[in-house]
Amino acid sequence: SKQDFIRNFCIIAHIDHGKSTLADRFIQKTGVVSDRDFNAAGGKQILDSMDIERERGITIKSQAVAMQYTAKDGNTYTLNLVDTPGHVDFTYEVSRAIQSCEGALLLVDASQGVEAQTLSNLYLAMEHDLHIIPVINKIDLPSADIDRIKQEIEDDLGLDSDLAVAISAKNGIGIEDLLEALIEQIPAPKALSEKPLKANIFDSHYDPYRGVIIHVRVFEGRLTKGQNILLMNTQAQYKVETTGIFRIKLEENEALEAGEVGYILAGVKSIGDLRVGDTITDLDNPCDAPLPGFKEVKPVVFSSIYPLSSDQYDELTEAMEKLRLNDAALVYEKDSAAALGVGFRCGFLGLLHLEVTQERIEREFNLGILLTSPSVRYRLTDKKGHTWMLDNPAKYPEPSQLELCEEPMIKATIITPTEYVGSLMALCMKKRGIQEQMIYLDTKRVELIFQMPLAEVLFDFYDSLKSLSRGYASFDYQESGFAPTDVVKMDILLNGEVVDALSQLVFRGNARERGLQICERLKEEIPKHQFKIAIQAAIGGTVVARETVSALRKDVTAKCYGGDITRKKKLLERQKEGKKRLKMVGNVELPQSAFLAVLKSK
Ligand code: GTP
Repeated sequence: SKQDFIRNFCIIAHIDHGKSTLADRFIQKTGVVSDRDFNAAGGKQILDSMDIERERGITIKSQAVAMQYTAKDGNTYTLNLVDTPGHVDFTYEVSRAIQSCEGALLLVDASQGVEAQTLSNLYLAMEHDLHIIPVINKIDLPSADIDRIKQEIEDDLGLDSDLAVAISAKNGIGIEDLLEALIEQIPAPKALSEKPLKANIFDSHYDPYRGVIIHVRVFEGRLTKGQNILLMNTQAQYKVETTGIFRIKLEENEALEAGEVGYILAGVKSIGDLRVGDTITDLDNPCDAPLPGFKEVKPVVFSSIYPLSSDQYDELTEAMEKLRLNDAALVYEKDSAAALGVGFRCGFLGLLHLEVTQERIEREFNLGILLTSPSVRYRLTDKKGHTWMLDNPAKYPEPSQLELCEEPMIKATIITPTEYVGSLMALCMKKRGIQEQMIYLDTKRVELIFQMPLAEVLFDFYDSLKSLSRGYASFDYQESGFAPTDVVKMDILLNGEVVDALSQLVFRGNARERGLQICERLKEEIPKHQFKIAIQAAIGGTVVARETVSALRKDVTAKCYGGDITRKKKLLERQKEGKKRLKMVGNVELPQSAFLAVLKSK
């Protein structure tokens, strides 16, 4: 059958192990783009279409591409590569993409070895019964140690290292062997086109000309033009307008059959109306049950966005609406704060998602914005037994009314070379972590499992982990419910005025230290003014820390020696540039960076 010549697969890997490079190499090898175009693109990152993704080198949105490959057996196969995002913020998207495949290439960097996300992605793939091919990448590196990696593949992953394929995605070594292995080992999808329709939505994106493009994997039945469909979890109904496959550009076709990966258009107005992971079926001839594992993605980090100048509120509204079309995980509602005017309260999947959103607003819409101190969502219970969720520190109630405050917890998995175990355990302890497990993966590496408050992971955890381990430790986490906590609201005052956007809920035991840290960081971030600025951190009216920004004395251009006009100009321009990114709060101009800086120790 047609399905015998289809292979659906994804590439899973720890960040930076070369997933995008390999995907591009496949695309080049199978002629989806000509060698000329490949070279014109710098031979790089064809799948990552968003600018920011390219610059940060992180794949955020999953995408798919259909490749034709004539194998050594003389048959031509359609290889559907479903791309998966690689960062901890986007695990749910990974799992939906994985669900759409029969097999996965598990990429391991030949010099770095197995890391936390390699494992967590492997578990996801195993949950969905995927056939897994271990791939050792970057064998061109002088530090590549193929034997050691093979041992890790056996010991840590429990996979047969004899099946591992060694490649260099960068230099194009071993790519054909890998394609052959993929065709040989990964099972073809089942030929179930005669059954009622059952298809998985694994992604969607908004195209200004065509509207919402739904990325689907058909498991049973077929999707055709004119068909009335039902999305089983949201109960939404649509009519299919077009079906097609991904070939870098969209390519329309007759129908999508069981086993195929492609897209449909169905007059969906906004991505917010769709849920990744939902099951599409035929309205008149529905399948008996939706595909398993559907869940609503929940934001875990909250922050408010304000325009730097308040007359740009309408522009910000428009930008938010447009972003929402393309980012179903972004949730927001109108918000206002005394010092900042009108803006939006937003929920994000993690700090990375927050930073990417900030950058997109600034870059794609050319809007200066400010984000308030991010917060997790607490569960509060008052003395009358009433329970509610709170994610905005500005709205924290009078403490005497509260019976209980609970905070979200995570289960953190850290994999590290043994020499860093001591300092990483100390770090986790300092972050209020409780050790659950410590496993020696082999003589050189340890897996640590900690229960930790999510809020502590937001504050500088990842950077500290990386610097303490010289970049060698890796980290992944899962949500794990709520636990009672003791937090206090810390206010930040500038010249005696509370800046509500800087208010934070902090753990009582760390409050003093955090206050000192925040004041110190703010002192660095706030530019000098014509007058002195007092920065204070206060808990319930008691000042716990203070710093002062001294008054401005010199003209900036006075620093320029000689009469170098161009330098002077540049300096003034830079000053202007900097001004654009300031927000008036009372009589103090706060740089945008101040709000995120308070989260980072240094
Ligand atoms: P994310 O998209 O951020 O998850 O990263 P990724 O896994 O897609 O990694 P990417 O393809 O961006 O590669 C990361 C880095 O490794 C880049 O600098 C690549 O040039 C480099 N790289 C990828 N493959 C190879 C290889 O075979 N050999 C060498 N030496 N470098 C490679």
